[in-house]
Amino acid sequence: MKQAKDYIIFPLDVPSEKEAKEYVRLLSDHVGMFKVGLELFIRSGPDIIRFIRSSGAARVFLDLKLHDIPATVSRAMERITELGVTFATVHCGESREMLEAAVKGSLGKVGVLGVTVLTSVSGDDILAAGFREEFSSDVSELVMKRAAMARETGCAGIVCSALEARAVRENLGKDFVTVTPGIRPSGAERNDQQRVATPALAIKNGADYLVIGRPIRDAKDPRDAAVRISEEIESAFTD
Ligand code: C5P
Repeated sequence: MKQAKDYIIFPLDVPSEKEAKEYVRLLSDHVGMFKVGLELFIRSGPDIIRFIRSSGAARVFLDLKLHDIPATVSRAMERITELGVTFATVHCGESREMLEAAVKGSLGKVGVLGVTVLTSVSGDDILAAGFREEFSSDVSELVMKRAAMARETGCAGIVCSALEARAVRENLGKDFVTVTPGIRPSGAERNDQQRVATPALAIKNGADYLVIGRPIRDAKDPRDAAVRISEEIESAFTD
């Protein structure tokens, strides 16, 4: 059964392999998954993934946000299947074919997650990129359109804000996975995240996984911070 800690995805947003390994040792019994992004993967490659997998039960989310012609994306995803990761990301972008290629390349071994619209992108950016006004005036319209495309092409789920998780779940079904960054326990620093939710609200909105970085990484005692967040998640189950 999924325990409270299994909802937590800890991003290994650190510049060195040494630091990444320290966090893996410290947290592998207290989070469900480690997220490896471009910075760490460029530095350490598949080695860091092997290290995480040998360190305990926590799984791996490879966040490389692929975006290329369908053949290239499919072949890259096939190589990802050799790494034993649970999830890998691809931009929803403008091509349905690219998403289909990512899913085909995953060979049913990796859950493909679509990145809908980056939270760093504003309505003005969308307009400047040539999209219709209906999408720039309400970016969530574009998020939902891309989420539906990810669903139709066989993706396992999407990355979205915890504030959108409920609508995604209602429109696209409970088995379509929502991974939600921008999580802040009450009283924690927001940093550069704009649309934040507490762990409890994310769970109530039906989020399947919560990406929680700085509130754990920068805590005096990161393990204790992870345990406290698990407790908050646990209490949201029973509310
Ligand atoms: O909790 P914290 O803000 O530190 O988490 C940052 C992590 O969440 C980074 O790894 C970042 O890539 C990821 N992320 C995000 N917003 C998105 C998608 C992913 O902050 N929309």
